[in-house]
Amino acid sequence: MTYPNRTVTLILVLLIASIFFETYESRVHKSIKRNELIENFKRLFAPTSEKSFTTWFGNVITPQYIFRPNSLDDLKDIVKNAKINGKKIRCAGRGHSWTSLSNTKDYLVIVNNLSNVTEVTKTDTYGWTITALAGTQIKTMEQALLKNNPPLAFKTMPAPDFFSASGIIAVAAHGGVTAAPSASDLVVKLQMVSGDGELQEFSNEKDPVEFNAAKLNLGEF
Ligand SMILES: Cc1cc2nc3c(=O)[nH]c(=O)nc-3n(C[C@H](O)[C@H](O)[C@H](O)COP(=O)(O)OP(=O)(O)OC[C@H]3O[C@@H](n4cnc5c(N)ncnc54)[C@H](O)[C@@H]3O)c2cc1C
Ligand SMILES: *[C@@H]1O[C@H](CO)[C@@H](O)[C@H](O)[C@H]1NC(C)=O
Ligand SMILES: *[C@@H]1O[C@H](CO)[C@@H](O)[C@H](O)[C@H]1NC(C)=O
Repeated sequence: MTYPNRTVTLILVLLIASIFFETYESRVHKSIKRNELIENFKRLFAPTSEKSFTTWFGNVITPQYIFRPNSLDDLKDIVKNAKINGKKIRCAGRGHSWTSLSNTKDYLVIVNNLSNVTEVTKTDTYGWTITALAGTQIKTMEQALLKNNPPLAFKTMPAPDFFSASGIIAVAAHGGVTAAPSASDLVVKLQMVSGDGELQEFSNEKDPVEFNAAKLNLGEF
């Protein structure tokens, strides 16, 4: 296969984040009973019936609930639920990271169903950019880039092409090309749902320090 010689050096990703909650939330809400929790799930996005999530390395994560959101609204619902019930959230994509950073006893949010390339466009500031949802696989982004006129490609990417956009950004995954940037260095802007259930945007222009922490976040930001 011949690769197009134009490369996309920067990607723009809608990243759905893991969330930290203020400890006072837990204290305020710790008296909420289980039946109230179930009532909440009737109104808000419900967890799957899965009891555990096994990573590629065989780590078995047994959270209280596993969620597979299909939209931004689902995700906001999950965050609201977590806030009401004083729970923390960890995320997972394809579960291929070396250590089990997705481990939690509270809520595990698997983002694989949040998959779409929403835009491939040329910008004045960054050149060609691609915008995708957190769970979009590398191959889906590569197909969208190849279909573009002119055809585009990433400079380098990890070999297995089914990893999720948010998973490779969170751990700064890399391909085999010497001196090529890591996946997190390709990001020019990202959006995350924070603990208050609102969508926050991070970029160099807004705040370079926060942006750096948000990119290579190890699922802990
Ligand atoms: C067979 C194999 C081959 C590999 N090859 C390479 C390679 O060539 N190059 C390389 O660099 N690495 C490689 N790795 C490591 C792998 O690329 C990374 O671990 C990558 O993170 C995997 O993506 P994932 O979708 O499975 O992420 P996951 O393992 O599911 O998630 C990785 C981390 O990101 C966090 N996270 C995921 N989604 C979100 C989200 N939406 N919001 C917040 N945090 C999130 C998780 O909590 C976790 O901490 C390989 C691993 C395996 C098992
Ligand atoms: C996730 O997507 C798959 C395929 O698109 C679908 O079969 C599954 O029901 C979805 N999961 C949830 C929890 O909606
Ligand atoms: C994917 O994104 C495109 C562009 O924003 C949109 O038109 C399309 O409806 C989206 N598809 C899904 C399944 O969300």
